[in-house]
Amino acid sequence: MTQRASVLIAGDYRCEQVVKQERPDARIVGVLKDLALVEYVASEMIVDEIVVDRHLAPRGETLDEWIGRFNKAFPQIAVTVLGESPIRDKVHAPAAKVITSQTVVVWSPKGGVGKTFISVNLACAASMATQGKAVLIDLDVYSGDIATYLDLSGGPTIIEILPELPRLRPEGLDRYTQKYGPSRLNVICGPRRPELSALVGIDHVRQLLSLAARRWGLVYVDTAPDITSDLLGEAIDAASAIVLVITQDVCALKQGKVALDIFRKLGIQDSSIHVVLNRHSKDAPLSEGKVEEYLEKKLASVVPDDRKTVEKSVFQGKPVVLFPKTETASSIWRLLSEVSPGLPLPDADKRHNKTRRFRFW
Ligand SMILES: Nc1ncnc2c1ncn2[C@@H]1O[C@H](COP(=O)(O)OP(=O)(O)OP(=O)(O)O)[C@@H](O)[C@H]1O
Ligand SMILES: [Mg+2]
Repeated sequence: MTQRASVLIAGDYRCEQVVKQERPDARIVGVLKDLALVEYVASEMIVDEIVVDRHLAPRGETLDEWIGRFNKAFPQIAVTVLGESPIRDKVHAPAAKVITSQTVVVWSPKGGVGKTFISVNLACAASMATQGKAVLIDLDVYSGDIATYLDLSGGPTIIEILPELPRLRPEGLDRYTQKYGPSRLNVICGPRRPELSALVGIDHVRQLLSLAARRWGLVYVDTAPDITSDLLGEAIDAASAIVLVITQDVCALKQGKVALDIFRKLGIQDSSIHVVLNRHSKDAPLSEGKVEEYLEKKLASVVPDDRKTVEKSVFQGKPVVLFPKTETASSIWRLLSEVSPGLPLPDADKRHNKTRRFRFW
């Protein structure tokens, strides 16, 4: 798998055309005309390079002053000025960067909508894209299903880690982690019995998520639907991205909308919330477009209702991303590319990837 540079364009559609022609391999993550917004996005997303239209005028400074300031603030991001020199002449060109650290909480206020299915597959895809630098943690401590989804029922669980946490170094987590062989995903399973869940406290969650982020970088968390859970609150505090799972079911949608509203009130930035429509069916009364309209938010990905593939996947303990030729697998890769824009996709899914880009208007 080759790594594609994530490029943010500060300009208009003409700049976009030039970048597409000159740099067919680049992954354009956004097109913005406002340089203040570019700074904001650069601090929120993984961006390898920005391409700036020479004619853009920053507020209160010259473009060169703005570039100087930007280079200082984001030394890892290459800056190319368009309309002045060939696009290949970089003002500043460090090596392209792959996303290294992110804590993604997969949640829904509704039970049974596919949180575990999505978190397992998303984490598995991330692990495949990064050669094992991802971990999946089951924080559905009462009735976690990750061990079943990955056929890992016999090994250590989160419960064995708890007494060690205060003294543990990041590498120490390896002893309590299982590897899901085919994707090299690291997995911390939930308690084997529901009564053990009472042992898991918010301090444990905080310490565990922090250690896991330092150990592997990419952390994916499966959760229970209970919005009042302190454990969920702690995970959301630690999250850099939230994947909200909804379906076309009216109740799931209504609760999803309430959840979005709560996230906004909590001050969580809209750009770090990714809504995935799971179990999509063309026959459902509410179309994908209507769902977006109702939620006032673009969907990060739409996962088809695919009983045949999903049931086979759960039965075999093998995530659907390992069944590469299915639309279901492609929809998960699409979700990964929205949630973690710097990660490389396998070739087959580049073809399937009808990019839904991050746009501000
Ligand atoms: N895209 C899909 N197509 C078909 N079946 C699916 C799909 N996604 C999930 N399922 C099925 O739906 C059921 C619920 O999925 P899952 O366990 O992931 O939901 P959940 O939100 O984690 O549930 P809980 O709230 O109980 O933890 C499972 O039987 C799963 O196989
Ligand atoms: Mg679940």
